[in-house]
Amino acid sequence: MILFTDLVAQHEELLSYMVMPRYGQNLEAFFEKQKCSISNASILEIIRGTLSMLEGVHAAGYSYNDLKLDNIMVGFNNRLSKEYTPENVFAGASLHLVDFGFATSFVDKKTGLHISQEEVETFRGNMIFGSLNQLNFLKTSRRDDLISLLYMSIYMLNQGKLTGIDLDTHMVNTEAFKLARKAKQNHTMDDLCCDNAQIMKKFANEVLNLKFKEQPDYKKLDKILCEAFSEVRDHCETNSSSVEMSDDEPMDEDSKNSI
Ligand SMILES: Nc1ncnc2c1ncn2[C@@H]1O[C@H](COP(=O)(O)OP(=O)(O)O)[C@@H](O)[C@H]1O
Ligand SMILES: [Mg+2]
Repeated sequence: MILFTDLVAQHEELLSYMVMPRYGQNLEAFFEKQKCSISNASILEIIRGTLSMLEGVHAAGYSYNDLKLDNIMVGFNNRLSKEYTPENVFAGASLHLVDFGFATSFVDKKTGLHISQEEVETFRGNMIFGSLNQLNFLKTSRRDDLISLLYMSIYMLNQGKLTGIDLDTHMVNTEAFKLARKAKQNHTMDDLCCDNAQIMKKFANEVLNLKFKEQPDYKKLDKILCEAFSEVRDHCETNSSSVEMSDDEPMDEDSKNSI
């Protein structure tokens, strides 16, 4: 029998590795299976869960920088319905953030103080959900993750659409990048929080006005979310007897929006 540690020792180029639990499907796969239409109750659960996970990442001194549904997983043993159901399908399920490849520290290791907003040479993140600051090649901080959470929320509420950002899969990355940046530069609050996402206006106002070094008030944001969603009800009712339960979902490899 070969032990994993022996294998690592034999391959000195493997300098570090991480063992993590196996999770179930990622939320983009789930969202697509639901034809990009999931209930407000489920969307609220995803947003609140993600806010709480981001708070944890921020408490460790890091901004995550690559928020999207592909990077959020449900627990391996959680069973989610395959068809639209108006309930919160994540009740009793656990959510997990993976893919910390683009995370950066917002704390200066020498001084222990918050870093200053400087330029970076390379964009690392995803075009659709990245903040305008990130797309303008500026260093990120906690507020950028919360702006990404805003975009991700609008994307879920509006069936996979985000105002002005309709990235054709045939587009080359630079073209798509410019289009996404232009959309984020030009949209007004009404453009951004349109249709079902009108309920996100108060949250949008909070996160888009956060300063680079500002400590977000996560509790206040959570309260704003709960209040916003309490004003809306799900319209689409499904006969719950038709809901199938999924077997173990295979791992999903698509990470289409990262460059
Ligand atoms: N611990 C895990 N358990 C199950 N599936 C995982 C796990 N980590 C990642 N995956 C799947 O692999 C995909 C790609 O992994 P990720 O860490 O996001 O790498 P990248 O996006 O850089 O390729 C994820 O979207 C997810 O579907
Ligand atoms: Mg990923």
